[in-house]
Amino acid sequence: MNTLVGLGVGPGDPELVTVKAANLLAAADVVFVPVADTGETGRAEQTVLHYAEAWRVERVVFALHDREHTARREEAWDAAARRVADWFGEHPGTTAAFATIGDPCVYSTFTYLAESVRGLVGDLDVRLVPGVTAMQDLAARSGTPLVEGREALQLFPMTAGSARFREALLRGDSVVAYKFGRMLPETLAVLRETGRIAHAVYGAGLGLPGEDLRPAADLDPFAPGPYLATLVVPPVRDGRGSGLRRP
Ligand SMILES: C[S@@+](CC[C@H](N)C(=O)[O-])C[C@H]1O[C@@H](n2cnc3c(N)ncnc32)[C@H](O)[C@@H]1O
Repeated sequence: MNTLVGLGVGPGDPELVTVKAANLLAAADVVFVPVADTGETGRAEQTVLHYAEAWRVERVVFALHDREHTARREEAWDAAARRVADWFGEHPGTTAAFATIGDPCVYSTFTYLAESVRGLVGDLDVRLVPGVTAMQDLAARSGTPLVEGREALQLFPMTAGSARFREALLRGDSVVAYKFGRMLPETLAVLRETGRIAHAVYGAGLGLPGEDLRPAADLDPFAPGPYLATLVVPPVRDGRGSGLRRP
C-alpha cells in the first residue's frame, strides 16, 4: 500500500510542530513541500528542514503567487500530482508526506493534491495529521481567546470579498480574516465601520523572521499587507464569563 500523508507543520515556529508530525517527518521516505515558481524557499519547507534532512525533501511547484483560480494553477496541481504519482511508481509501498503550513484541513493545497493523486494511484491510503493554525498562534500569543461560552467563530478568506465578513462583525461574532494581503486597507475600513477595530489583533509572518504582531488599530490604514497575515477580531466582552450570557 502507498501512503500519502498531509502533514500540518504549523504557521512558522518550528516548535509548533506536533510530536506526531515531527516523528513522521523523521520517518517518511520523502517529504514533498509546495513552493512558488520563484525558486525561493517555501514557507512549509523552512519548518520541514528542522526535522527532515534536505535529501529527503522534494519541492513541488504550486504556483502559490497566483491569486485567482487560473489555468496555470490547475496545471501546477496536475504536475505536482503526477510527480507524487511517479514517486509511488518508482518506490511502491512507501510513505510520502506532503507538508502544508498550519493545518492540512484549513485552506490547504493538500486538498487539491490528494484528490488528483487518488485519480492516478490505485493503491493509495491518504491520511491527515493536524497542525497548529495561524489563527491559533496569533490568538495565543496576543492573549486573545478566540471563543468563550456561547460565542460563535467565523473564518473568512478575504479573497471572497468583504460582504459576509461585515455581516459577521455586525452580528458581534468572533471573526478571523485570512488571505487579505493587498486588501488590508479595505479590511481595516470594514473593521472601523463596524466598530470592531479596537479589539482586533494583527499578525504577519507569525513564527518567521521579521514577524509583525500588533493591535490592528496601530496599522497604517492605507498600506497593503503581506500574504502571510491574519486578523483575529474577538467579540466585545463585558467582564468574566460574558460569553456565557450571549443570546
Ligand atoms: C492558504 S491559507 C493556509 C492556512 C493554513 N493551512 C492554516 O491552517 O493556518 C494562507 C493564509 O493563512 C494565514 N497564515 C498562514 N501562515 C501564517 C503566518 N505564519 N502568519 C500569518 N498568517 C498566516 C494567512 O492569512 C494566509 O493568507
